[in-house]
Amino acid sequence: MNEQELAVADPVPDSDGNLERELLKQLNTGRAGLPVLPQVAGLALRLAGDRNANVAELARLVETDPPIAARFLSVANSALYFRGFVIGSTQAAIVRLGLARTRDLLFQVVYSNTTVGLKRFQSEVRVSFERSVSCAIATRVASQVLGMPLELSYMCGLLHDIGEARIYRVFDHIASASPGSPEVERLVRKHHNRAGAEIAMAWHLPSEIVDACAAHHDLGASDSTAVRLVMLADLVTQAAEPDSNQLFTLGINDAQWRRFKEAFARESATSRQRMAQMTPV
Ligand SMILES: [Fe+2]
Ligand SMILES: [Fe+2]
Repeated sequence: MNEQELAVADPVPDSDGNLERELLKQLNTGRAGLPVLPQVAGLALRLAGDRNANVAELARLVETDPPIAARFLSVANSALYFRGFVIGSTQAAIVRLGLARTRDLLFQVVYSNTTVGLKRFQSEVRVSFERSVSCAIATRVASQVLGMPLELSYMCGLLHDIGEARIYRVFDHIASASPGSPEVERLVRKHHNRAGAEIAMAWHLPSEIVDACAAHHDLGASDSTAVRLVMLADLVTQAAEPDSNQLFTLGINDAQWRRFKEAFARESATSRQRMAQMTPV
């Protein structure tokens, strides 16, 4: 999916309700609800692929943004990354994690900030974010267990539903959009793909992530490894039981699905355990 294809998407329908018309008007006419990508996340993305990357430079830049630096250290010390002791400095964290995981975690921090400033939809965005972190873990596990290499697996799983947060942000400014209303939820489901793909493009993220955002509900697009892995991750995190045909379309068989499910359950249990053992920073 490229920028041009998305630019012509979704003309405002006449027959649909006012809320959908208003949402599409805002999505179509500009940068409504588009979060700004902090400089540090953009730099981490560039450096992760660079063999000569300078860790000290990235650490310095992270530290110029204290809220991000604090959240980054706390996330780096938690869950998957905890190894029995607390990492005290940004630079030590980056050295320990490596640039790729640093990039993943910085994007996680940026994404978790999407609740900031919301007046009415914080809990919806928080739930969407937490589901996305699970999905990021599942996408990485799927990539490893199913032998489908994807360097950006965590990022694809993490960001594929980020369009939901954008739409809630747009609705936050529309008085007739009520939290919990079935119409709001229907519109989030219907339009979050293109809303997320536009964020990924505005942030100049790699095409796998744009595709994962744009096409993860489209079984016909499952020839992309990123899209396939995210679809599998969505299934496993929703505890869905796909049938053999669906798995075949996604490129795996029943035995592989069982292996993936077990590996994800183990990984999730380990993360929960590490979280419970963690000494507060
Ligand atoms: Fe989705
Ligand atoms: Fe999803």
